[in-house]
Amino acid sequence: MSKRSKSKATNLNNARPARIISIASQKGGVGKTATVTNMAVGLASLGYKTAVIDMDAQGHIALSFGIKKADLEKTIYDVLIGEAAMDDIKHTKFGVDLYLSNSSLADLGPKVMSHLNAKLFPAPKYLLRKAIGQIKTQYDYILIDTSPSNDIPTINSLLASTDIIIPVLPEGLSIDGIYETILLIKELQEQGTKINILGVLPTMVQDHTNLHHVKLQELRKEFAETPDIKVFDTVIKRAIRHGLAQTHGEPDINKAPEYLTFVKEAFAIA
Ligand SMILES: Nc1ncnc2c1ncn2[C@@H]1O[C@H](COP(=O)(O)OP(=O)(O)OP(=O)(O)O)[C@@H](O)[C@H]1O
Ligand SMILES: [Mg+2]
Repeated sequence: MSKRSKSKATNLNNARPARIISIASQKGGVGKTATVTNMAVGLASLGYKTAVIDMDAQGHIALSFGIKKADLEKTIYDVLIGEAAMDDIKHTKFGVDLYLSNSSLADLGPKVMSHLNAKLFPAPKYLLRKAIGQIKTQYDYILIDTSPSNDIPTINSLLASTDIIIPVLPEGLSIDGIYETILLIKELQEQGTKINILGVLPTMVQDHTNLHHVKLQELRKEFAETPDIKVFDTVIKRAIRHGLAQTHGEPDINKAPEYLTFVKEAFAIA
């Protein structure tokens, strides 16, 4: 971290609640986890106090930060069911605080939605919002990785968020995933929840291919007519470095500089 960003860090987060951002798409494999990982190390490199919460039972955030899932004693699941505090499960890696998950998170829906447990979990869709209440004054940014579905962990994530970023591959099926995700968010907004769709982030872009070039242009044109949803100017190219840092468990923003450009655009950081 540079001297400038260190001093910047001390000026940040005067106990103001964090921006809480879910990276969400109903479509699998569009770069959600890579986006969370690289955004987090990017924000930390700029001196922002940053946390990541993994709300996907695949537990890929642990792997992305070089932590073995088998070594996790307690996870976000234990916090959500009231058997641990956020502090009990915190790991810190590469300057980022991590609240991790593993396959136990798949039990959340059946457990908290069961009629038998209705008294224990009167607000099963707001468990994450409550858990984040324990930590939100400690951070500038809390990023949430979600699964490619509308399961209970994802609903909890969206309802706990101030903002949503939707990654999309500029290809037919992935683009379809945007609309499913937007519909889901609109439903929650209509029920009275304030959630801002910060924007759509094109990922794994191969702009030398005609398909991606054309689809990206179509996407920009379509959303230009939707004033409340923007497609970010920054695009993340398909490049092995974005995935490699992740699969080797050593995220490095210097190897993924597009993500630094992206966080500056997304959060209007000069
Ligand atoms: N920009 C990129 N260029 C090349 N490979 C990438 C890029 N971003 C991610 N990858 C790789 O593509 C695969 C899918 O990415 P990732 O796991 O981030 O997607 P996801 O949306 O989180 O998937 P899931 O829906 O299963 O959670 C991973 O192997 C990842 O390392
Ligand atoms: Mg993922």
